[in-house]
Amino acid sequence: MIRSMIAGVGSALPKRVMTNDDISKVVDTSDEWIRERTGIAARHIAAEGETTRSLATEAARKALAHAGLDASAVDLIVLATSTPDHTFPATATEVQADLGITKGAAFDVQAVCSGFVYALTTADALIKAGQASCALVIGSETFSRILDWTDRGTCVLFGDGAGAFVLKAADGEGGILASKLRADGRFMNKLYVDGGPSTTKTVGHLRMEGREVFKHAVANMTEVINELVASAGLTLADVDWMVPHQANKRILESIAKKLGLPESKFIVTLDKQGNTSAASIPLAFDHGVRNGLIRRGQIVMMEAMGGGFTWGGVLARY
Ligand code: UT7
Repeated sequence: MIRSMIAGVGSALPKRVMTNDDISKVVDTSDEWIRERTGIAARHIAAEGETTRSLATEAARKALAHAGLDASAVDLIVLATSTPDHTFPATATEVQADLGITKGAAFDVQAVCSGFVYALTTADALIKAGQASCALVIGSETFSRILDWTDRGTCVLFGDGAGAFVLKAADGEGGILASKLRADGRFMNKLYVDGGPSTTKTVGHLRMEGREVFKHAVANMTEVINELVASAGLTLADVDWMVPHQANKRILESIAKKLGLPESKFIVTLDKQGNTSAASIPLAFDHGVRNGLIRRGQIVMMEAMGGGFTWGGVLARY
């Protein structure tokens, strides 16, 4: 049976770091409140000229180098973002042009913070269907550009960045083992952007009912994690690493507690990066690989929850 193996990973962050103290000069907040309520200490913010496209291309190049592959091998790009460079074309096609790729397919996926899980599942399905043999799966965001920098309830939470996987079709064991995608549009008003091309004709700003999102995030992600291990015929004890969407340290602590897992199994990058939406899982995964935590052969659980609501997870052997 054809499987999708994770052949390489890479990431990119804007150069500029904004600390909690820097943010407290913009809105009425404090380093103490942000750390205590979220675990975030700093985030990277894109400068003029740094875009979702440029960050995505840098992450993709690093992932290809890590996989030891040339861009000419790629016949599919699936890019998850809610902050594209343009309303259209898809940022995936812009990255394709940057990399000099002229074959195969390229498109964006929009599932907000669950975007990378949706993109990975889509690419895996196309590989298993024989439609692609080597895919770049990218999560890239510049949320700083859709934040209301007068709303302390949201602007302290997010950061910019990108992460990428190279998925390669292979005969054998391992790679993507199971995935689950979920959505419930009844909750769209809990986390959304108040603008868009067909309504306001503007980009709009992010709006969120934080407490509601928090509650659903813990319940939904815990449920999907349990479903994933069961559908792969494994138990939670078989999972070496949890690579969750990075929204709030307290969400991760609650999930760990509910599942009876030690917090040391969770890869955490939100302290230095904040919530980078669709980029957070590949950024955290790359951090884990580069720091020698996630090793070849290990079982990794990736899970996310975001606007829509959308949520889901992917279980893989790295
Ligand atoms: O990636 C998509 C998924 N997103 C998430 O998962 C986010 C989930 N939600 C959260 O992480 C948390 O709900 C937040 C971090 C957004 C907020 O934490 P909270 O403990 O739920 O706080 P809250 O919104 O209930 O606000 C508590 C208080 C309020 O003051 P009063 O009404 O008690 O006087 C807020 O006005 O904290 C105040 N507050 C702040 N104070 C200082 C809200 N934001 C700030 C701030 N600095 N930045």
